[in-house]
Amino acid sequence: MRMKYGVSYYPEHKEQAEIAHDIALMKEAGINLVRMGEFAWCKFEPVEGQYDFAWLDPVVEELGANGIQTIICTPTACPPAWLVEKHPEILYVDNRGITRPFGGRRHYCYNNPVYRGYSRKIAEAIGAHYGGSPYVFAFQIDNELAQEGTGRCRCPVCRKKFQQWLEGKYGTIVELNRRMGTVFWGQAYDRFSQINLPVNTIEPNTQQAIPAFFENPSLRLDFERFCSDSNIEYQNIQRDALKKYTDKIVTTNATGLATNSIDYYKAFQGLDCYAFDYYPSLRDLEISSFPYAHARGVCGKDFWLLEFQSGGGHGLWGSGRLQPYPGALRQAAVHAFAAGADLVAHFQFRTFPFGAEQLNYAVVDIDGIPRRRFYEVQAAARDLKKLGSVLKHSRFDNEVAVCFDYQSLWALKIKPIAKDFNYVKFCTEIYQQLARLGVGADVIPFGRDLDKYKVVIVPAPIIMSDDFKRRLKQYVYNGGVLLSTFLAGIKNPDNIGIAESLPCGLTGLFGIRVGEVEPVVERTKATIALKTGAGETRGVNKYWAETLEPNGAEMIGVYADTFREGTGVISRNSYGNGVAYYLGTGVEPQLLGELAKLALKDGRVALLPFKVQAGMKVFVRKYDHQNLYCLFNFSQEPAAIKLDHDYYDVLNGDSVTDEIVLEPKGYRFLLD
Ligand code: GAL
Ligand code: ZN
Repeated sequence: MRMKYGVSYYPEHKEQAEIAHDIALMKEAGINLVRMGEFAWCKFEPVEGQYDFAWLDPVVEELGANGIQTIICTPTACPPAWLVEKHPEILYVDNRGITRPFGGRRHYCYNNPVYRGYSRKIAEAIGAHYGGSPYVFAFQIDNELAQEGTGRCRCPVCRKKFQQWLEGKYGTIVELNRRMGTVFWGQAYDRFSQINLPVNTIEPNTQQAIPAFFENPSLRLDFERFCSDSNIEYQNIQRDALKKYTDKIVTTNATGLATNSIDYYKAFQGLDCYAFDYYPSLRDLEISSFPYAHARGVCGKDFWLLEFQSGGGHGLWGSGRLQPYPGALRQAAVHAFAAGADLVAHFQFRTFPFGAEQLNYAVVDIDGIPRRRFYEVQAAARDLKKLGSVLKHSRFDNEVAVCFDYQSLWALKIKPIAKDFNYVKFCTEIYQQLARLGVGADVIPFGRDLDKYKVVIVPAPIIMSDDFKRRLKQYVYNGGVLLSTFLAGIKNPDNIGIAESLPCGLTGLFGIRVGEVEPVVERTKATIALKTGAGETRGVNKYWAETLEPNGAEMIGVYADTFREGTGVISRNSYGNGVAYYLGTGVEPQLLGELAKLALKDGRVALLPFKVQAGMKVFVRKYDHQNLYCLFNFSQEPAAIKLDHDYYDVLNGDSVTDEIVLEPKGYRFLLD
């Protein structure tokens, strides 16, 4: 069985001879997938109502004849000049009130009814034309919704719709005033029509339009939700349009953990699989697999990587990307599949001569001559042929989950707790610490079933619903092991503080009360001492500091210096048949690792049967009742592993015993 592996491609830029040359190279590379069309509205519909597929059909056919299937994208990231000229009201308005003009991309308002109508029509035309094509494998909606600062439109249509959205949610203005606490700074409203769109948002790539302007955090969180919902609604209009004509897979390319302007758990409920874009540096020693774990968690199954790194050189964002270390591109592609992708497409096949992305990275350079990146893609394609069936038939069965939630993420961006604290980064640190211990983890939303996990970790869950708190208690009561960090349960889903001891509603579960809290700055860093089975581990704290008052729990960690010396900061509490840990401050990786080890031990989590060196990463997947160990050496040195018994090496088709050596940037797949 073959995995889908390919590239993005832009035939609309090219003459026939170049296309023929490129297709021949693609075939030589051994890829079997091409993604096309996402910016080509001016070609699909050059004049309103006159559709043209003649430029693309022969390419789809030629690719198909060479065994390469196509993903066709709807081109709505780039409304054409004629549409903008006729309907300038569809343009996107940013937080400074500036209209994003024609001349870049993503210059539309996703709530505008006129634009929604045009988007539906072009999606229908594409669905009608390609929906039954034997060469078309799937459809992509738009391109990276909300990316590049385009997910928080402030046009008059959005203003009106936001007011209606609030009315739908709160019913009366009295109720909105009460739940949002608008009496603060005298902001009580008489009517929904008085409510402005917040100036500030969590959106990356936007500037604070009015300096030192502090808005109501509950209103702001609702605006984030409203915009996320609006983007999802927009996406689903296109989904329905395509689904009228096809039963092929329909999805869109998310931005993974990069932009976070859309709640992907919600967005992908209505699509056929989660798909995202990822641009890790291939010069660094390691690729973070946290975005992959998150990707598996979005729909609870395998995902697609619709755009993936291909190289370095010139860049779009003002600074270029570095070229991959030898072997890293090949390894990165195989690593993505091992991490749960069942489709990967590099961005992109051949360097653009013109446009905003001119001279950007690609698999093949501008002259069309294959060089090392091309040969690495070819090598990955070759290995994937051998790995396809074992990967398709195996699945993750992790015993540990890290909970990741958009409400807490947004709330912590709206009101940050410390300059250097970033929710995504913090969740990543925890995940990576587990990975270093050889323990795989799933990343799941708060609403997902917890019972199948032995250990559940909840990083910085500042917003928690009563239901989630109840489920956490039940989980631990029934024997689960929970590790929560600082900030637990401080606010309700309205983004309002709760007038109770912290962690609100969970003081019994953790057997503690939180006393004082403050950010950690350079001059207030403290040493933390953690009692481990054998002795004590020490480390310096960061981000945020809470003091814990015992209320039944054992204090296993204390401040070891400063005026807090001796005060509790890490606790362990038996609750029902389980155990609940609370970590009251950010800590360095080594200490975090020691704490994780305690929780893993309580949870009896299975550890790797062999030792791996630093710089190596392992995914363990279940292949029927066997374990499939996917081993990656990210370092630039050979890495040896002493095996505990015989394994079957899937790529070599042979059994291995004793010691194996992974070459720099090498990988092995072993079945036990
Ligand atoms: C992505 C985008 C692509 C391309 C790439 C950077 O965010 O979807 O179209 O611009 O970044 O080269
Ligand atoms: Zn708008």
